[in-house]
Amino acid sequence: MALAADDIQKARGVWEKFYVNAEDNGAIVLSRMFKEHPHTLSYFTNFKELQSTAGTASVTELEGLSEVRTHGKKVLSALNDMVQQVDNMDALKAIIEPLGKKHAVELKVDVKEFEILCAILLELMAEKCGEDAKTDFKKVTDVVCEQIKSTY
Ligand code: HEM
Repeated sequence: MALAADDIQKARGVWEKFYVNAEDNGAIVLSRMFKEHPHTLSYFTNFKELQSTAGTASVTELEGLSEVRTHGKKVLSALNDMVQQVDNMDALKAIIEPLGKKHAVELKVDVKEFEILCAILLELMAEKCGEDAKTDFKKVTDVVCEQIKSTY
């Protein structure tokens, strides 16, 4: 489903504010996912420090781990690329397809996990940028999740 020009403008406005703190915000999203949905830790076997501390660490402690910070920034950077192309479905699909396939085939991430991560992202956007941010950016996460699903 393509987005209307007005929706794209609003979503980009919110994203610009949120993405200024890409590393912090990415780390918060991942840390909350790990604490609120501990089964998601099982995909990150490469993250040794995370694996050894997640059981006892708080969300704030997890946010400080370099593995979590680096990966959080990577995830938000990939989302940033998508936001730049959200007005061009062919370009958007070209970005999402390899990433979706990697998560599906190589990383074996259940497609439902994307909904979890996006819901946490939207909550944090509302906390940081106001309640409207959630409604404004949900249109983007809906398109992203829909496109990721189509690669599975
Ligand atoms: C919109 C949501 C997401 C985006 C934009 C995203 C983006 C990325 C990117 C850019 C990478 C690096 C790929 C590479 O190095 O080639 C990655 C890796 C990975 N992602 Fe995602 N991801 C998302 C959701 C998820 C979810 C929901 C999970 C699981 C709960 C997940 C699990 C992983 C794992 C396990 C890796 C490999 C980490 C490593 O060993 O370095 N991702 N993701």
